[in-house]
Amino acid sequence: MFERASPDGAGGTAGRVGVVLGSQDATPLEFWVGAEEGQTVELDDLVVCAARAPDGETVRFYGVVDVVRKRYEGAQFDGDAFRVEAGMLPAEVSYAAHVHVTRIDPERFLPPHPGAPVRIAAGPDLEHALYFDRMPARLPIGLTRGGDPLYANLEFLDGTRGAHASISGVSGVATKTTYAMFLLYALFHSGVLAADAANTRAVVINVKGEDLLWLDHPNAKLSATDRALYEAIGLPVAPFQDVGIYAPARPGSAAVVPHTGSRHVGVRPYLWTLREFARDRLLPFCFAEADDARSQIGYAVERVTGYLADLAQRGSADDPGLDGGGRPLRTLDDVAQHLEQSGQLGELISSPPTREAFLRRLHAACARMGHLVRGTEAPDRWAIRWDRHRVTVVDIHTLHSVGQMFVVGVLLKRMMAHKEQQGSARPLVFVVLDELNKYAPREGWSPIKDVVLDIAERGRSLGISLFGAQQTASEVAPRVQANAALKVVGRLDAAEAEHSEYGFLTPVARRRAAFLQPGAMIVTQPEIPSPLLVRFPFPAWATRVSEVPAGTAAGRDPFARF
Ligand SMILES: Nc1ncnc2c1ncn2[C@@H]1O[C@H](COP(=O)(O)OP(=O)(O)OP(=O)(O)O)[C@@H](O)[C@H]1O
Ligand SMILES: [Mg+2]
Repeated sequence: MFERASPDGAGGTAGRVGVVLGSQDATPLEFWVGAEEGQTVELDDLVVCAARAPDGETVRFYGVVDVVRKRYEGAQFDGDAFRVEAGMLPAEVSYAAHVHVTRIDPERFLPPHPGAPVRIAAGPDLEHALYFDRMPARLPIGLTRGGDPLYANLEFLDGTRGAHASISGVSGVATKTTYAMFLLYALFHSGVLAADAANTRAVVINVKGEDLLWLDHPNAKLSATDRALYEAIGLPVAPFQDVGIYAPARPGSAAVVPHTGSRHVGVRPYLWTLREFARDRLLPFCFAEADDARSQIGYAVERVTGYLADLAQRGSADDPGLDGGGRPLRTLDDVAQHLEQSGQLGELISSPPTREAFLRRLHAACARMGHLVRGTEAPDRWAIRWDRHRVTVVDIHTLHSVGQMFVVGVLLKRMMAHKEQQGSARPLVFVVLDELNKYAPREGWSPIKDVVLDIAERGRSLGISLFGAQQTASEVAPRVQANAALKVVGRLDAAEAEHSEYGFLTPVARRRAAFLQPGAMIVTQPEIPSPLLVRFPFPAWATRVSEVPAGTAAGRDPFARF
């Protein structure tokens, strides 16, 4: 028989909140705790209890509270509550908590003994409960409700044993983008990367507003409470260091200037030369609408891409433009005209309807993203050099969806090619990509989805880890979600939470997710058999111009005088 023993195996009562109940089944994987008079047990509390086996070995059960309930002891009828309240019926209140066991140490799958004292896990017990003691390198991911730091095993993010994080939740309250950036901040500022820190790179795609264009500035509005939270997590309060910011070249402007709204200083414009567009076969990335690939257009695009690659072989490699048979080609429009007027298109695509459809899409691409491909600028001058800075922000929020797809597709494709060529998983690259449902939707095929799937599946061995965010994981290609080691949800729509993509949440966690407030997430990682509630502070970096400290160069509005 299993006997009760105090949690520390000795007899202390510190942190004791109650005892294992005997009126409900106590099993190795779950049990109920009766709260003691004057004690409170809340959802997400981490607890520990111990029992001594007949052979004298002490076995500890660590777990997380996932249900708490009160009821009148012995009350049978709904009306009893009224009678007790009126003093007509004596009754005791029973306050109990359900514990989802996260770890048994040593691993002896025996039930804890009813009556065994249970206490809040703190210090080394907390580390044990959540396997922190087994993590060779631990990344801080936030705080428990009680204010203790929580960690993730870096080995599941840096490719050693796994990679990628997937963050889901409703728009505006789930704090998905902020949490992705918080994870990145913790990676770079907690010291967890050790010797890898100097060479590790991050590429952040800014898809919405200018939120992420300020992350190299401190947040002047950060409250003292939030500062204290950073301290509790063991992180400094600082902006991101060594940041490069890129924005698309402004359309309609012959001079190459960045297309941004509030930030002008320290932003580099980016574009591709027409020659590299042709040479590197980038045309398919302009045709990223989901069903293009299925139709005849796919074949047409392939033919024209091949033809352009041939054109790029001609003329000087230093010429950013192309030679269209004696006529210089400088823009995508020039290319479209050349294809039509030279009769090449007819030779490449024999079917007139397919030709028409191809041209329609090519003209649309010219109008929507033609300014990103120019045959007038020196090669490499305006390229996105994501290896130059520790963090590179690539803004795409001003672009039409076609342009956004193009930039993301080409950037990721090149990154994969670069890493393949390098042939080693180090230096690591972390990519933050929002709206993953757009780039890797559940249905259909596109060259961009192909790259994202490739990263999800092979990125781990190449040292590329994707921090993806989406409002609904159910709309993202299942292979992307399946390959993410760290799965995170912020506030979730109740119906969305029922999808099988959230199978990593316990039934209780699914319901909890509907109540999460901004700054609270539920995180699951491979080694911990229970989703954890995590709190994280407001960004220590500015997320809008009003948070940039006054007088900073980038914060100054150049048009303020007017
Ligand atoms: N730790 C925090 N605590 C409370 N509020 C926060 C915290 N971090 C960010 N917020 C607030 O939540 C808002 C939404 O955050 P965020 O943009 O990250 O959400 P999102 O899930 O990415 O939304 P969307 O789907 O619209 O992109 C931010 O504007 C910010 O004011
Ligand atoms: Mg977002």
